[in-house]
Formats: sequence, structure tokens, C-alpha cells
Amino acid sequence: MDDIGLTAAVEPRWRPSPASGPERRTAGRFEKQSRQARNKASGEINLVVTRSAEVPMELVGDHADDLEVVVAPGVKADFSLCTVRVTAPGPHRLEINGSGTVRGQIIFSGTNGRFVFGGDPTPPMDKHALRFKAVLKGKNSLLDWGRGTSCVGAEFVVNGNDTRIEIGEDCMFSQGIMVRTTDNHSVFDIDTFEIQKSSDSIVIGEHVWLGINSTVLKGVTVGRGSIIGAGAIVTADVGEASVAVGVPARVIATGKSWSRVAKPTRDEMEGIARRLRS
Ligand SMILES: CC(C)(COP(=O)(O)OP(=O)(O)OC[C@H]1O[C@@H](n2cnc3c(N)ncnc32)[C@H](O)[C@@H]1OP(=O)(O)O)[C@@H](O)C(=O)NCCC(=O)NCCS
Repeated sequence: MDDIGLTAAVEPRWRPSPASGPERRTAGRFEKQSRQARNKASGEINLVVTRSAEVPMELVGDHADDLEVVVAPGVKADFSLCTVRVTAPGPHRLEINGSGTVRGQIIFSGTNGRFVFGGDPTPPMDKHALRFKAVLKGKNSLLDWGRGTSCVGAEFVVNGNDTRIEIGEDCMFSQGIMVRTTDNHSVFDIDTFEIQKSSDSIVIGEHVWLGINSTVLKGVTVGRGSIIGAGAIVTADVGEASVAVGVPARVIATGKSWSRVAKPTRDEMEGIARRLRS
């Protein structure tokens, strides 16, 4: 073993057919990332080599071999501080369509889970911006992460069959965020025994700001440009360019949007307004 605990002598645990698919190897060439990862308890870094790119990541779980990683040509992604855990038989798919650094956890524990990563903005806004936990359970779950969306701390749970979380481009997620497509348990009528729908997809439009400790529940669409206030619990749709606050969240203003900076220029505000009107 070398000083980072990974050498080329360590056998890859999986090899693809020569024709296609990802190949997983140890990440001796990615010393910087490997050193960072060494401090993690489970610290194994793998190098996923696809036909178009190499992506260092901590890929673990009994069914890690069932994950197909697809990277768009020219993309440079770093998942070395992201644990990708595959606990159920595949197929599962991780599609990396844009360059960027992802930290946190992605867990595939259902069937046919799909995570699509759109990438960081260009130029990157903040190298520590993307921290989240994503859980893909149930059958045919999809988490589609729009390009340029930042996230300080969030948990996304896609559960229930055929549900998805779609996140538009250029959103800003604060910390303590929860977005989940399912109640996880059932609610039923004690006279008719009718069981309520307990899961449904969530759509978060482009340029949406989710304030600190906010929650978005099943079946909700948040329109583009909108702001969800700190601590809000969103249980019903919010229109475009609106401000919604409280528990349950209620719209308190329309015709508003936001910027990442405290004092945006007139040009920037006009640009955002134009985009939202297009
Ligand atoms: C949503 C937000 C942007 C609205 O700001 P604002 O437009 O200046 O709103 P105001 O302070 O004028 O408040 C308008 C009303 O909404 C209420 N309100 C504002 N934010 C609220 C919130 N998060 N929850 C409940 N009520 C809220 C105010 O009490 C006020 O009610 P009133 O008219 O009865 O007095 C802001 O309150 C907020 O929640 N920011 C989130 C900040 C954050 O999470 N930052 C993390 C860094 S990414």
C-alpha cells in the first residue's frame, strides 16, 4: 500500500464487457481526492472509467456493480467526496451531463433508479456549494438535477413507484432542506378503508430559491423564479415568481424573484426577469 492507502496492485472488483459500460478501478492517479477521502471511515475511492470520461467516486454497496455511469463527452466531474451506495439489484444509472463537484451521498436502494446531474454553473460559483443526500427507492425513480443549481444541505427522497424529482437550472437550495415524493406510510379512511395517495412527483422550476429548513412534499410544483421562505412546508403548488412562506406555505407576494448577491445590478435583474418571462 502506498501512503494514500490505494495502489494499482489492488484488484478492481468489477470489470465490464469490453464493448461498453463503466469500468471501476482504484484511483491511484487521483491522489489529491484520495487523500481527502482517506479520513472518511469507509474511505474507498474508485475511478469509474466510461467511454468518455473518468470520474473518481466512493462507490460502495452489495450491488455497486449494477450501477451504470454515463458521462457526457468533455465533462470533468469529481464525485470523490460523494458516497454512491447501491444496496439493491439494478439496473441503476448515474448520468453526468455537466462538469462539477458533488459531495454527499447518493443511495440507490430501489429498482431502476436514475440520477441525472446537470453540472455546476460556468464558471463555478462556489466549490463547496453542492452538498446533499439523495435516496432513490421504489421502482423507476428519477432525480433530475438542473445545471447550475447550488445546495448547501438537503435531502431528496424519491420513493413510490414511477416518481421523480425534477429540479430546474440555477436553483439555490439553502441548508436543512427536505424534498420527498412520498409520505412513506399510508393514510386511510376508517369507514371506507380507502387508502390515500401517498406518493407523487415533485417539480421545482428553474431559478427557485428554497430557504433554510424548508420542506417540499409530494405532488408539489414550484414555479420558476419563486422563493420558498425559511421554515416553510410546501404542500400545494406555488406559481411562478412568487414568494411562499409558512406552514403550510401560502403565497404572500407575486411578481418577485431573487439574486444570489445582496445588491444585484439592474442588468442582472433585467436578465433574470427576461428569462422568467420567456
Ligand atoms: C421569504 C423571505 C425572502 C421574504 O422576505 P420579505 O419579502 O422581506 O418578507 P417580509 O419580511 O416583508 O415579510 C412579509 C410577511 O411574511 C412573513 N414572513 C416572512 N418570511 C417568513 C417565513 N420564512 N415564515 C413565515 N412568515 C414569514 C412576515 O412575518 C410578514 O408577515 P406580515 O405581513 O403578517 O407582517 C424571507 O422572509 C425568508 O424566509 N428568507 C429566507 C432566508 C434564508 O433561508 N436564507 C438562507 C441562505 S440561502
